[in-house]
Amino acid sequence: MSLAITLCGIALRNPVIAASGTFGYGVEFADIVDLNKLGGLITKGLSREPIAGNPAPRLWHTEAGMMNSIGLQNVGVKAFIQDKLPKLKKYSVPVIANVFGYAEDDYLEVIRALEDAEGLAGYELNVSCPNTKHGGIFFSSDPQSLAALIQQVRTVAKRPLIVKLSPNVASIPPFARAAEESGADAISLVNTFISLAIDIETRTPRIGAGFGGLSGPAIKPIALRMVYEAARSVKIPVIGLGGIANGEDAAEFLIAGASAVEVGTATFADPKAPERIANDLEKVVRRLGVNNVSELVGTIRFPNSAK
Ligand SMILES: Cc1cc2nc3c(=O)[nH]c(=O)nc-3n(C[C@H](O)[C@H](O)[C@H](O)COP(=O)(O)O)c2cc1C
Repeated sequence: MSLAITLCGIALRNPVIAASGTFGYGVEFADIVDLNKLGGLITKGLSREPIAGNPAPRLWHTEAGMMNSIGLQNVGVKAFIQDKLPKLKKYSVPVIANVFGYAEDDYLEVIRALEDAEGLAGYELNVSCPNTKHGGIFFSSDPQSLAALIQQVRTVAKRPLIVKLSPNVASIPPFARAAEESGADAISLVNTFISLAIDIETRTPRIGAGFGGLSGPAIKPIALRMVYEAARSVKIPVIGLGGIANGEDAAEFLIAGASAVEVGTATFADPKAPERIANDLEKVVRRLGVNNVSELVGTIRFPNSAK
């Protein structure tokens, strides 16, 4: 039985990837996690300059999840290339750089810098950021700005390009199609859901910056529905995430149409979560009686009355 897959040209030993923002730059986890057991790892979002991030509190625990507003704190692309990336060379795990910006030029500059660096398997674009040159409309909430951004990035990105979609839209298929038509090699979804928690004593938000992004098990059923809808709308591979905490969760995303999955918030409670979930998935796949994990992808069956 094989868990190995090839995702837009990247060979993964299993379809479980550590998600962006919950796994640092990978190196920080090397002492506690066997990086070579992961399908892949995605770095914290990288910007052209270092970013200090948002005021505290940045995290708030909800009933079945977590809100965060880290403010995309990161060391900046230059420090990543100089200090972090070389340390990952001794591992065989494919490393994917998560990239963001507030204007098309920001994205282009980060990708140009990364193109000259060795040791990366591909890019994941975080498009859930306001486009400050266009009145702050999020790239991820306007199919035209999304398409324009991806077309630009495509001109400089030679490595596989994954576009990470935001769930904060009324309908996901137009965004999935815009990504495919503008040259994305794959899409990943979901990013976090914009959310609010209030301290009733002070009547102020629980998160320093006001709103936060909701993640974890609370979002899993919505993420699954969106992954299903996206996978039906495009031919490029879909990577599913949102609340995955065990092998069965991962299998649900594969059955909904994802070719691979990412694990984010679960890593907060258990740094080994991506490795554990990959092991777990192997048992689940065996139990479901298929020889290759790819055989599960998109095999959801709706009763005739339901679809
Ligand atoms: C603390 C934290 C930081 C995050 N930082 C990033 C980031 O830098 N770039 C990005 O694309 N997504 C980021 N995300 C979103 C996650 O990668 C993921 O899309 C989301 O949390 C849903 O998956 P999960 O429920 O497994 O966490 C972050 C999430 C959390 C919880």
